Amino acid sequence: MAKKKLNVGLIGYGFMGRTHSNAYCKVGHFFDVPYEPILRVVCGLEEKVAKAFAEQWGYESYTTDWHKVIEDDKVDVVDICVPNNVHAEIAIAAAKAGKAIVCEKPLALNGVQGKKMVDAIEKAGVANLVSFNYRRVPAVTLAKMLIDEGRLGRIFHYRANFLQDWTISTKVPQGGMGTWRLDVKAAGSGVTGDLLAHCIDTAMWQNGPIGSVCAMTETFVKERMHVETGKVEAVGIDDACTFFCRFDNGSLGNFESTRYARGHKALYTFEINGEHASIAWDLHDLHRLSYFDHRDESIVRGWRSVHVTDSDMPYMGNWWVPGLQIGYEHTFVHQAADFLVNLAKGKPTSPTFREALATQYVCDAVLASAKEKTWKKVKKA
Ligand SMILES: NC(=O)c1ccc[n+]([C@@H]2O[C@H](COP(=O)([O-])OP(=O)(O)OC[C@H]3O[C@@H](n4cnc5c(N)ncnc54)[C@H](O)[C@@H]3O)[C@@H](O)[C@H]2O)c1
Repeated sequence: MAKKKLNVGLIGYGFMGRTHSNAYCKVGHFFDVPYEPILRVVCGLEEKVAKAFAEQWGYESYTTDWHKVIEDDKVDVVDICVPNNVHAEIAIAAAKAGKAIVCEKPLALNGVQGKKMVDAIEKAGVANLVSFNYRRVPAVTLAKMLIDEGRLGRIFHYRANFLQDWTISTKVPQGGMGTWRLDVKAAGSGVTGDLLAHCIDTAMWQNGPIGSVCAMTETFVKERMHVETGKVEAVGIDDACTFFCRFDNGSLGNFESTRYARGHKALYTFEINGEHASIAWDLHDLHRLSYFDHRDESIVRGWRSVHVTDSDMPYMGNWWVPGLQIGYEHTFVHQAADFLVNLAKGKPTSPTFREALATQYVCDAVLASAKEKTWKKVKKA
């Protein structure tokens, strides 16, 4: 039977524009979704690149003005893959136009702006999702299932790192495609919003809300050339951030992120220690979940390395056969599958804008704590 068509308007043809387009192309081949995504229009700053992107991925049209995407009556879903400073404006306009919205993370530049976005989408009653895609790595979803089943018992510790090394050179500029991340006006913050937001989202999903934080940040390279002005300008982002926190369930958290950890490209890791069992995960080996259960017989007790590829494991029944693993891009396919299924049922898909606002509030508290050198309470979303 022909599926209902769902017209997608993608804004941003960069890194995330590619992952989201790939997901819309693949989702119907691997998941039984109620809609057929149609790549209606792509938007980006450069006309030549937008045109080439439209041709490569099969978009029906292209534009350099995001308002045109919103004004297009045929567009059902607006997918926001632009730098953080443009999220709010587009999301609020899309909500007013009654479009479903997928927005890249972090939700906004800060909590104040994020709250306006939440108010707009809730007032309009439109479907919404923020792309914290690591939740949908099968091993990470499995970790959440094991915690929810109570296998770990009371949780004592949650620690997470997100380490990179690509900004150590003082020659890396700020501003422009990809490197807008180093420009505080475009990014809102540095590693806190870019990398730790992922860790915070996963952590609160698995272990509940964070109540208070104590942080320190550092900007190792204080000035960088700005691509747009051609001038050397002060750097306003945090290059590295470390924070402690207390979760509302009484457990202690320890988070670290930097782009100055030589040798690490994108090392996202977490470890959770509970009364009965512990779990650990590592993005560089993303299809494996490490699990230790103290209730095992002592002569065989030890860390297990679970290869998360069996068909009864999250999402894996839709892919290949046991033993064959999947990778990074599949997390976006899973996200698209969940979103389309829930959209047809009129159900929310997690993380919603409101859930992403909770992460934004933790980021705000972390940055305020580092600035004021004191513990900060986290605002509830
Ligand atoms: N989920 C993840 O793991 C993940 C990974 C990377 C980036 N992100 C997020 O995705 C978003 C985009 O990041 P990216 O790495 O794809 O950036 P990018 O630099 O690769 O691409 C940005 C795109 O936005 C377009 N753009 C910028 N301003 C615009 C405007 N005013 N109107 C229309 N188009 C505009 C540019 O033309 C470009 O196509 C950011 O919010 C970022 O935090 C998420």
